[in-house]
Amino acid sequence: MTKIIQITDIHITTPGNTIGGRDPIANFDRALEHALAQHGDAEAIFVTGDLSDWGDASDYLHLRERLATVPLPVHLALGNHDERHVFARHFPDLMTDGFCQYRVDLKGHIALVLDTWAAGTHAGRFCEARAAWLDGQLGAADAPVLLFMHHNPVPLGLGPMDKIMQLDADRLGDVIDRHRGVVKHIFHGHCHLPLSGSFRGVPFSAPRGTNHAGWADFNNTAAFGSSDLPESYAVALIGDRDVMVHMIEFGYQANGGTIRSEPSGDKAEWDRLTMVR
Ligand SMILES: [Fe+2]
Ligand SMILES: [Fe+2]
Repeated sequence: MTKIIQITDIHITTPGNTIGGRDPIANFDRALEHALAQHGDAEAIFVTGDLSDWGDASDYLHLRERLATVPLPVHLALGNHDERHVFARHFPDLMTDGFCQYRVDLKGHIALVLDTWAAGTHAGRFCEARAAWLDGQLGAADAPVLLFMHHNPVPLGLGPMDKIMQLDADRLGDVIDRHRGVVKHIFHGHCHLPLSGSFRGVPFSAPRGTNHAGWADFNNTAAFGSSDLPESYAVALIGDRDVMVHMIEFGYQANGGTIRSEPSGDKAEWDRLTMVR
């Protein structure tokens, strides 16, 4: 069994600036501190895009310096708010053929980080070149594969969000289909909503994100729903035959939310209270 942490949509920005009334730098620090304190036994952390809010060099500099203090391997993906050529200057080792795409070997699994970034749009793209790279990787995979990427490949049923989803999902899906049974789980971000479902038969999940929180407002066809729900990251427990993904709402605890412990530890007392009719 391997444990991994997924952090998404950190939206690092100029120190002191807030997004949705929240401080992304402070919230990313809180997410890391919480995750390392509670899940320091994880094998790796994956940050699935929207690393920076405006793609500024200073954001990537901050990120690189902050990650240097993290005692776990951290793997980064690009989101629509990022700027690929600026990112590439600060993280050249993560670039393959001009894209931020690469393989990470985990215990018993292969992680593939995909690049769904496109210039001048919030929507995701997955061109022939990226599809060819993934095709080669899946063809050569000698262990189950976990995919990490920013954009959702499945529409949410929310009009404004669905305009900026992974618009080349069919191309991505066709590659996954060609290697049926190889991809075990897809981890994505982008939506600032806790999501799960399946894409071409492969399960996917996404946590809410570490800063601003969305809301699935099905009645609003013009604008994105937002909310004050807690900042979150995900923890995935990946076994040989199954996957469990938790969304950890660290913001609830960081903002003083109470965590109760039930029952008291006296099992007979608990049975008396809850089982004996
Ligand atoms: Fe985002
Ligand atoms: Fe995004």
